[in-house]
Amino acid sequence: MRDHFEIRDHDAAGRIGRLEVPRAGVTVETPALLPVVNPNVLTIEPRRLAEEFGAEMLITNSYIIRSTDRIRDRVLEEGLHDFLGFDGAIMTDSGSFQLAEYGDIDVTTEEIIEFQRRIGSDVATPVDVPTPPDVDRERAERELETTKRALADAEAAETGGMLVNAPVQGSTFPDLREEAGRHASATDLDVFPVGAMVPLLNAYRYAEVVEAVRAAKRGLAPDAPVHLFGAGHPMMLALAVAAGCDLFDSAAYALMARDGRYLTVAGTEHLAEMEYFPCSCPVCAEHTPAELREMDGSGTSEKSAEQLLAEHNLHVTFEELRRVKAAIRSGTLLDLVDRRARGHPAMLDGYRALLDHADELERTDPVSKDAFFYTSHESAKRPEVRRHHERLARLAVPDRLLLTESNAPSTHDYGAVWRVKPPFGPFPRALSETYPLTAEVPERVDESAQTAAAEGVASLAAANPETAITLGHDDWADAALERVPDGVETENLRSLGR
Ligand code: GUN
Ligand code: ZN
Repeated sequence: MRDHFEIRDHDAAGRIGRLEVPRAGVTVETPALLPVVNPNVLTIEPRRLAEEFGAEMLITNSYIIRSTDRIRDRVLEEGLHDFLGFDGAIMTDSGSFQLAEYGDIDVTTEEIIEFQRRIGSDVATPVDVPTPPDVDRERAERELETTKRALADAEAAETGGMLVNAPVQGSTFPDLREEAGRHASATDLDVFPVGAMVPLLNAYRYAEVVEAVRAAKRGLAPDAPVHLFGAGHPMMLALAVAAGCDLFDSAAYALMARDGRYLTVAGTEHLAEMEYFPCSCPVCAEHTPAELREMDGSGTSEKSAEQLLAEHNLHVTFEELRRVKAAIRSGTLLDLVDRRARGHPAMLDGYRALLDHADELERTDPVSKDAFFYTSHESAKRPEVRRHHERLARLAVPDRLLLTESNAPSTHDYGAVWRVKPPFGPFPRALSETYPLTAEVPERVDESAQTAAAEGVASLAAANPETAITLGHDDWADAALERVPDGVETENLRSLGR
């Protein structure tokens, strides 16, 4: 891997970074969304993608250009930037997607990289094999070997200053994804797309998307720029960024518009069934759903309903991307993921899969940020809670220690009295004003928070077997109390009237 990516800020495994694209002479801020531009059908003029939507980079398909007589010579002559009318960075795909769809394409990695260089691409792609989900292991391994050869061919190619993608495949086998990530990372290629995600994304299999990303990331270098190939629905951007993805490409905005579908951060709606637009983008501010429906086929106005829908779809997607970046800056990305997880049960599965890797997220999570908000059962599994439990082992404790959810008693014979705050559990009072113990927690504490707090008590007890610990809890559920080790004496403050 060469050194074109700089990480500026972290939250969970999400980051704000800068990808330098030398051939375009630009630096792109990540997370970035690359609108997919079909070279045959410019649903929205690329110039407008930059000026009105803020796209710094887009992606188009060099294989389609190469196999379309009508445009190939023009693009070769004018160059991709003039042909599209876009002076930001342009990534080109290689025909791998067509390979996955149709089983065969008539171009090699060497030829398509050469073609991408000649048309003036800024980020080129070899012919990787997008192995679909759920195939047998033998096929996944065999196709991964072909992808590895494609990466070697790309390394050997004359690139003329282009960055080059090193796609990470491996189907639904996490160990193969990890190995593919490790292999890709050891090449001198530049950008690392996690591939063959489209079937999973289309089927809302977000937990497996997260598993594939996390597996790839375990193999990749921590500072490798990661692209989630084919992902660009606004509902899942926060989740994918929190899992560690930096680049996205959206064909959804145009494809969905073609079918009369309206994207929101909570899912996809059908124009046919909408009475109101819950959005203030220029399209939604100026039109009602009924107006858009009536435009179909009338042919009198400048823009079609499809174009207007595509514009709305892109507005909400870029809006969400800005929200994700703001959340990374303030350290509230997981709060945003939590909110988005309420939009669809499959998103909740994705969020839960992400929290299964709280230990990995913890490594890049900043130690201090805006107050932790406890807003759902899932909050109890966040990396901040786990980190607190690990830190407990490092704190000095007396022989006799009282942990209590209520105030310290005015007279007592304990060596120290610590606070207990679900979901974190115990901590010395002096740490009350330190992140994450400044957390905002609802008055009506739930069982997940109590259980996590009990696990904190257990960590403390395990690290200090010689200490006599007493726990005063506010009527914790049995499931939580079961996690408190036998050696810890418990008192129910509520039944004691405190
Ligand atoms: N577009 C969507 N998925 C893929 C993939 O796995 N590889 C390539 N090259 N392009 C894609
Ligand atoms: Zn809108």
